[in-house]
Amino acid sequence: MENFAFYNPVKILFGKGQIANIGAEIPSDAKILITYGGGSIKSNGVYEQVKAALAGRNFLEFGGIEANPHLETLLKAVELIRAEGIDFLLAVGGGSVVDGTKFIAAAVPFEGDPWDICAKQAPLKAAIPFGAVLTLPATGSEMNTASVVTKWETQEKLFFASPLVFPKFSVLDPETTYSLPIRQVSNGIVDAYVHVMEQYLTYPANAPLQDRMAESILKTLIEEGPKVLADLHNYEARANVMWCATMALNGLIGVGVPQDWATHMIGHELTALHGIDHAQTLAIVLPNTLTVRRDRKRQKLLQYADRVWGLVDGTEDLRIDQAISKTREFFESVGVPTHLSDYGVGLDVIPKIIDRFEKRGFVALGENQDVTPKVVEKILVLCA
Ligand code: NZQ
Ligand code: ZN
Repeated sequence: MENFAFYNPVKILFGKGQIANIGAEIPSDAKILITYGGGSIKSNGVYEQVKAALAGRNFLEFGGIEANPHLETLLKAVELIRAEGIDFLLAVGGGSVVDGTKFIAAAVPFEGDPWDICAKQAPLKAAIPFGAVLTLPATGSEMNTASVVTKWETQEKLFFASPLVFPKFSVLDPETTYSLPIRQVSNGIVDAYVHVMEQYLTYPANAPLQDRMAESILKTLIEEGPKVLADLHNYEARANVMWCATMALNGLIGVGVPQDWATHMIGHELTALHGIDHAQTLAIVLPNTLTVRRDRKRQKLLQYADRVWGLVDGTEDLRIDQAISKTREFFESVGVPTHLSDYGVGLDVIPKIIDRFEKRGFVALGENQDVTPKVVEKILVLCA
């Protein structure tokens, strides 16, 4: 196992009715800004619950944060916060609202061009404190330090991460997810699954606990995801999927082990250039990342085949083929198509992505830093 430092201070309030308890988590004299997306929280009752929990408190609202939050929109919130002297943020929505709020929190005290936070990984000195009410289990943003922001003007989708943007608390009430469109339920299952794969499906690091935790999350998603899709008001299945998504990317399963993330880096470009949903891009790319890099990932692919899919018969190569096919079939079975053509995108996207990676110096991705632009090209060709 590699050395590691682990720190995660996010307080989780899990379960039905927990929104009512947020008042106690926010300083009583805070001037609060509620941030939200395109309006789902106003039609599913979540906004009313938040408002009731903040009765008598000093708060303003900022809505309109898009899926794949736009820098241009987030900067409007930064202006509002500076003008109004806001000192606490409350993100209410999916990963995009939480990510957008992290960026806003970091941008308010930032001196200079805020896009440098993502584009140049500019160091942060401070961020406004914030909490989250999560309504879409998928990204893990509610319990991690990462944020992904899109600069609409240039169609660039880039991330930053800082311990300064850990939420102070996150509410995970599975009932808030009942109103999700099926497509977003499916996306959430796939995103969480791929987060685990990015941290697990690399090479052995003698970390059996992290491996088994990762395998548990994968198996739980395989079992519980379809239960949600079969019965959208199945509270227990909703709860299990929600906790899986948080555990998939709160740092715990990734300590002391190598991590890949090449699939995500490629996926972000497909979203930036073609607007394909984040999880859909992962469903397209991951099976082909595993195929192209099967030799470097061989030991873990065999372990995955055995422990997650129960594949123990036949040659090693057959088991690896079957494990990759099972992965693809699982994504398809929960409703996420796995080919670029399913989204109307052709292979002409490849040179654009390669060019961007070369310009940005993304030339050594993956757990072995051997995913060069050439390898990315091989992966993308298989995505057709
Ligand atoms: O905007 P509203 O009206 O709220 O609608 C949203 C949006 O249209 C809707 N929605 C959310 N909760 C709902 C709901 N509709 C009905 N009922 C509810 N309870 O769902 C749509 C998608 O929401 P979004 O927040 O964009 O989805 P998701 O949570 O999948 O977030 C995706 C973003 O997170 C980033 C992605 O790149 C993408 O930008 N990621 C963030 C990560 C992180 N911070 O660690 C890691 C991930 O790998 C990912 O990159
Ligand atoms: Zn993701």
